[in-house]
Amino acid sequence: MWRSTIGKKTIVAVTGAILLGYLVLHMAGNLNSLFGPGGAEPRVDWYASWLREFGEPLLPYESVVWMVRAVLLTAVVVHIIGVVQLSARNRAARPAHFPARKIGRSWESRLMMLSGLLLLAFIVFHILQFTTLTIDVTPLEHGAVYANLYNAFQEWYFVAIYVVALVFLGLHLRHAIWSLAQTLGLDSPERNRGIRYGATGLTVLLVVGFALVPVLFWTGVLAAPDEESATAMINSLKGRA
Ligand code: HEM
Repeated sequence: MWRSTIGKKTIVAVTGAILLGYLVLHMAGNLNSLFGPGGAEPRVDWYASWLREFGEPLLPYESVVWMVRAVLLTAVVVHIIGVVQLSARNRAARPAHFPARKIGRSWESRLMMLSGLLLLAFIVFHILQFTTLTIDVTPLEHGAVYANLYNAFQEWYFVAIYVVALVFLGLHLRHAIWSLAQTLGLDSPERNRGIRYGATGLTVLLVVGFALVPVLFWTGVLAAPDEESATAMINSLKGRA
């Protein structure tokens, strides 16, 4: 399957669908921030600790999170290798002196490599900021998700980085969802209009859903975290470790 072009395209589509599924869940999870700092514990912190405890007591603490991480990492790596190999095959198959732009591809389709590369750079930066807490320009604490987001998104440049990344995510996704439907054979002359609208709708939903978090923190709609609740959260996580 990996050796044939159609097989490779299918694998790229399926790994893309896995990553898309993750994005939908991640966006929905992030929206817990919109409940604000809460009384005892911000809802988004409670959600984040629930994710880590998921599967207990049958499975050890954080094991489901690590399984999801393994699936995502494999999907990203296979997706990228597949795309690079397919584009090399395309180039090799193109007659000499036949410029790519004459093939009638949309500008979004030509932007796929660039938007994909920028997204990869963003994901590395994003994990270093909010998961490993390595980029600690603003105060960060393990488990205090609401406070971490609040502090980061008081800085205009972090808001700008996230909004620009989301624009590239939108460009990448709209074309990706359309291509995914084609590769999986879901397209047909009667359905194509619906698929295009569906791809645009899902893309707008994801981009707006993700963008709400930095924008609402930055504009002050979401209040500062309650110091006591952040400390209680950190202590409870330290107790588990
Ligand atoms: C404004 C938009 C976003 C916000 C506010 C946000 C927020 C966060 C936070 C707080 C974490 C750490 C969660 C925790 O430690 O419990 C996280 C992890 C992560 N995010 Fe985002 N995210 C955003 C957009 C994205 C996008 C667009 C992508 C992918 C293209 C993405 C991919 C990831 C990944 C892969 C992780 C690591 C998950 C893990 O293994 O722990 N995020 N995000």
